[in-house]
Amino acid sequence: MNRLENGGVDAWLMTCENDGVKNFDDWYAVLDAKERQRCEKLIRPESAFQYTAAHWLVRSALSSYVDVNPREWQFEADAMGKPRLKESLRWPQFQFNLSHTNGLVACAVSLSAPVGVDVELMQTNGAISETSALYLSAFEQHACNALSPKQRQRRLYEYWVLKEAFAKACGLGMGMPLKAVTMRIGPHEEVDMAVAPWGGIPSILKWRLQLFQPTVSHMMAIAVGRKGEDSSKRTEVTCRIMDQEGKELMNQRPKTRDQL
Ligand SMILES: CC(C)(COP(=O)(O)OP(=O)(O)OC[C@H]1O[C@@H](n2cnc3c(N)ncnc32)[C@H](O)[C@@H]1OP(=O)(O)O)[C@@H](O)C(=O)NCCC(=O)NCCS
Repeated sequence: MNRLENGGVDAWLMTCENDGVKNFDDWYAVLDAKERQRCEKLIRPESAFQYTAAHWLVRSALSSYVDVNPREWQFEADAMGKPRLKESLRWPQFQFNLSHTNGLVACAVSLSAPVGVDVELMQTNGAISETSALYLSAFEQHACNALSPKQRQRRLYEYWVLKEAFAKACGLGMGMPLKAVTMRIGPHEEVDMAVAPWGGIPSILKWRLQLFQPTVSHMMAIAVGRKGEDSSKRTEVTCRIMDQEGKELMNQRPKTRDQL
């Protein structure tokens, strides 16, 4: 909890193989009726698996800080659809966000500061490249053109997770005009963001974005909004990654490309 009180963000991650897990029934048992209903509607078994894993992870993560049974957390969506804790349970001021993709689920938790997380499986097919004109700004397209095909493929995933994490931190989700946001990624993956004039983002907040590679095949970004004095502080992100049997794989800050 100290880390969060000092302005840090905890990223909880779990690798998922989509079946054969002993704990699945225990995960499902902590979901509430609404979550179970949503899960039942998911047609692809791997989607239902990831959904259950991610929602168990959020509940367990929150319960690791305070003495609340994971089953007792209650959620609602804010005006823009971002899930949050029901008001009566918003103590301390937990903020969280979750993301699921093939092979990995993630949950980011902060105190007070709006947070967004996105994880993606990096695939070698061309889907991310074929649609890039829909989500890249002119600056980003130009930056990509200077890269080799392999570097470009990786950079597209970096842009993708950064934009998604930011859209989710703001709560805008699909409502964010993706091309209005430009991510500049430095040589050590430091990220600087520029937003074209457009009124959709809470302007009192200073946004900080960080890129991580939690596994060899997954890319992750975390976005945090800070205000006042807090905005100048560096955001420490602490990562806990486990396998789906609950075995801890690492208990340290997630690695950037240069640290791998
Ligand atoms: C829905 C969206 C918020 C995230 O979708 P996604 O990346 O496919 O899925 P993720 O697994 O990362 O995140 C889904 C979770 O985000 C949360 N979420 C939903 N709406 C949200 C919002 N408005 N703000 C923040 N988080 C939201 C939910 O917890 C959801 O999980 P759940 O349905 O299990 O509860 C939205 O950004 C989206 O659908 N984007 C479409 C993809 C796209 O066009 N991407 C362009 C990338 S550059």
